[in-house]
Amino acid sequence: MDEVKNKFRESMSRLATGVTIVMTEIEGRPWGLTVSACCSISMEPPLILISLATQAASTQAIINNQRFSVSVLAEDQIEVARSGAKAGAPKFFEEFSESKGSFNYDVKNALANVHCRVEQTVTAGDHTIFIGFVEDVILGESKSPLLHFNRQFGEFNTAVRN
Ligand SMILES: Cc1cc2nc3c(=O)[nH]c(=O)nc-3n(C[C@H](O)[C@H](O)[C@H](O)COP(=O)(O)O)c2cc1C
Repeated sequence: MDEVKNKFRESMSRLATGVTIVMTEIEGRPWGLTVSACCSISMEPPLILISLATQAASTQAIINNQRFSVSVLAEDQIEVARSGAKAGAPKFFEEFSESKGSFNYDVKNALANVHCRVEQTVTAGDHTIFIGFVEDVILGESKSPLLHFNRQFGEFNTAVRN
């Protein structure tokens, strides 16, 4: 089984993803976690899915607040991604974010900020899946995204083979 888990971990490192910051509030302050397990799941109604380690501080905070935001990072935001990925460290996010009030946090200069309330919570193994109802979206500048692949950050190469 360990061999399967190791190969599973490796296989997922080969899946290139975008990088998001999931923000919620802890002690009345913005708190941001770096998350790649994020996808849209419905347009009618608009629903988004994120999957967080159940033991992460953000998970309990989202359960308490019933609100979170998802910010899609641009290629020049590696520092933001690294800050949100410091395991076990405080991840207060004032430096990188601004608030529109009542849990509606935006990462400054993100490609998009999606504000959600929790619609559904599902426990899956050691993770908690949150399905968020999208209440508002703030679109930023349309720039290149930050990507994650093979345990490294990278940029999108627009070369396409037809
Ligand atoms: C590119 C990248 C993607 C990540 N995606 C996720 C994710 O989808 N879900 C998750 O729970 N942690 C993810 N992590 C790990 C968390 O950001 C990191 O472990 C976090 O610091 C844990 O927070 P904690 O200290 O509150 O436990 C990711 C980290 C990186 C660098």
